[in-house]
Amino acid sequence: MYGRFARRAILPRLYPQQTDVDHDATVRTPRDWKTVSMSRSTGRPYLAIPGPSVIPDRVLNAMHRASIDVYKGDIVAVAESLKADVRRLVHTEQHVAMYISNGHGTWEAAAANLFSRGDKVLVLVQGQFAILWADLMRRLGLDVMTADFGREEGISMERLARLLEDDRAQSIRAVCVTHVETSSSLRADIPSIRAVMDAAKHSALLICDTIASLGCDEFRMDPWGVDVTLSASQKGLMLPPGLGIVCFSEKARAASKTADLLTPHWDWTDRADGEFYLRFFGTPPTQLLFGLRESLTMILDEEGLPAVWSRHDRIARTVWRAFECWSELSKVEIHIKHPESRARGVTTARFTGGRATALRAWLEAHTGVTLGVGLGMQPADDYLRVAHMGHLNAHMTLGLLASMEAGMQALGIEHGGGAVEAASGVIAASTTALSTEIKGLALDNQPKFAGLEN
Ligand SMILES: Cc1ncc(COP(=O)(O)O)c(C=O)c1O
Repeated sequence: MYGRFARRAILPRLYPQQTDVDHDATVRTPRDWKTVSMSRSTGRPYLAIPGPSVIPDRVLNAMHRASIDVYKGDIVAVAESLKADVRRLVHTEQHVAMYISNGHGTWEAAAANLFSRGDKVLVLVQGQFAILWADLMRRLGLDVMTADFGREEGISMERLARLLEDDRAQSIRAVCVTHVETSSSLRADIPSIRAVMDAAKHSALLICDTIASLGCDEFRMDPWGVDVTLSASQKGLMLPPGLGIVCFSEKARAASKTADLLTPHWDWTDRADGEFYLRFFGTPPTQLLFGLRESLTMILDEEGLPAVWSRHDRIARTVWRAFECWSELSKVEIHIKHPESRARGVTTARFTGGRATALRAWLEAHTGVTLGVGLGMQPADDYLRVAHMGHLNAHMTLGLLASMEAGMQALGIEHGGGAVEAASGVIAASTTALSTEIKGLALDNQPKFAGLEN
């Protein structure tokens, strides 16, 4: 029925998922394809890498619109509402600036606004992103001191206290920390860092990278005493990359008055308080702003931030439970041993013998699931990262875990049993506990200051 031309030129377009089929082989028609070694990855793919994350259809639809006049109409009101809602998301009453940028851009924005060449900053390192951040600031001419706490244990408050106490001249202008270090999946205890800084009576600013935590892990800028919060659109906020968010305190604003690194593009003054046209230092990223409007409505007004945190917590525990079972009597393990130090949006795991890379490749080829590569870990092929951030639910997670188990079976990776059943149990148990849990979190999340009412 299908001629040779049709088989080569048309069928692959009509059925792109079958492009791996050899169209010169004997089995060629759709009717016969069932006898071909079929792909199990056809269907909706699941990109489970720690950013960019899955974008909800609603957010995609909100962005799907023609260009609009950027000087009047909806966009002006939308941008104003976004500023108020970013404050609710970050838990701050202070300043909000937005950039057409990724996370790296927000690192540069903060440095440009706050520092002069030669200023000293302390970067707390618990993985690859802090190293990159430190490197960026070095290249800008700052005197960057790094304190490396390894990739497994997290930040030692005793060591931080010593570092700050030793700085008698108070020459350290800022302490920089990744709230969630996406490479190791360590989560820093920000209130404890603030407490150590206060106990040392140190005047440094506290700058927090929440690029991988905002909208996943609990974060509260003002109550936790954070001076500058950096974030980006493509992870917990469920958007494409391209929007950088920088929130800054009055103390940070005062520090910016003397910064000699400041350039017009990065200057946060007009971005925070200027006329609408100056908020983006030029044409605003209209479609992204409509997308952010939709995602913040979903997070803050529909699901509610406490419930979003709770969902991430429960799904993270579901993933951890599966790993606990797999790791019994085998060489599969979660990288971070202490649950209290683990991120809720990403889990780094080790499969010794280079099996992580093999498993990732198998999953992509046979199930449509893509996991994150091991970043900054050695040996690289032993590590992978399971992302569980943003727009995801129980069935995506359970499907992902079952797919991983299928991969381990197919590749002969030794693993303990019962993981999928145990993970299902975590979800099942959470449905009874959920209403009380959300109630508890909601109480805890009562606005502590005016202007943050939901
Ligand atoms: C914690 C953290 N900081 C910074 C970045 C850099 O962000 P971007 O890739 O958007 O520049 C990332 C990216 O994954 C990250 O996870």
